[in-house]
Amino acid sequence: MEEPTGGSALAAPDPYDVMAYYYDLFARASAAGHQTSPNGDAFAGPARAGDVVLDFGSGTGTLALRLAELGCTVHCFEPSRGMRAVHLAKLSARPELAARTVLLPAGATGLPTGVDYALCAGVLQCLDGPDRRKLFADLAGAVRPGGLLALDMLTDGRPSTWELRTAARTTVAGVEYRLRTSSEALTDSTMRRRAEYTASLDGRTVQQETVSRMLFTVPRPAVHRELAEAGFALLDPPPGLPEDFVLARRSGGPGAVDRPPTGAAR
Ligand SMILES: C[S@@+](CC[C@H](N)C(=O)[O-])C[C@H]1O[C@@H](n2cnc3c(N)ncnc32)[C@H](O)[C@@H]1O
Repeated sequence: MEEPTGGSALAAPDPYDVMAYYYDLFARASAAGHQTSPNGDAFAGPARAGDVVLDFGSGTGTLALRLAELGCTVHCFEPSRGMRAVHLAKLSARPELAARTVLLPAGATGLPTGVDYALCAGVLQCLDGPDRRKLFADLAGAVRPGGLLALDMLTDGRPSTWELRTAARTTVAGVEYRLRTSSEALTDSTMRRRAEYTASLDGRTVQQETVSRMLFTVPRPAVHRELAEAGFALLDPPPGLPEDFVLARRSGGPGAVDRPPTGAAR
């Protein structure tokens, strides 16, 4: 059977462009036990005012704005046009933060160098093993010795599976939005994640879009090994952070200045 998509039958849309429309709505409206976006406190914790930050896969810019508010200069790379559009709209309303932000399509330029803190929030599941290893090598070239890297989505390595269930629900401007998701294992390292977005007015559906994307497992031992190979040393996780979160330090060269290994929420 054909997969329903959010656009014309001729060209399947980038799922992230569809997701961008709803992303911030549901980031604040996760149903109990379901996480729809990365933990902002965990990722903001290591940043310090004045840091040069690299936000890889910056989405709608929620974290990037928070880090710019802290006084960081934030270099954002994001492949989805829809996600960038939401971020740009926020930046155009906050010129003081836009002045400390660079927002580019992923791959538009090489990564900056001399980065104090790099983060990949909610991104690793989008990459297969070779792309993940390439990313770690690229990040090792970007982050200065002693600088920090934060990642999430690490698991035991098994594909996650669940039947269609409500992940979040919220009412905004008189319209009720519901997100339902399911996850199906395709291989021992890949899964198909479906997201069904419904908007209803007085119980009548006025908009419905379903997107499906392939995601990859992020096995903890493999990631630990790959980070070490790329030149990152794992730090003990600060207490109270999500289990899937990891913080690492770019191994020192001459004159390396270590950042404190804090990841505690501000
Ligand atoms: C779950 S969202 C997280 C967005 C944002 N980091 C946040 O914390 O809200 C995953 C993001 O990764 C981006 N992404 C997917 N594949 C990517 C890739 N190969 N390189 C960089 N970003 C990617 C998506 O477009 C999407 O914006």
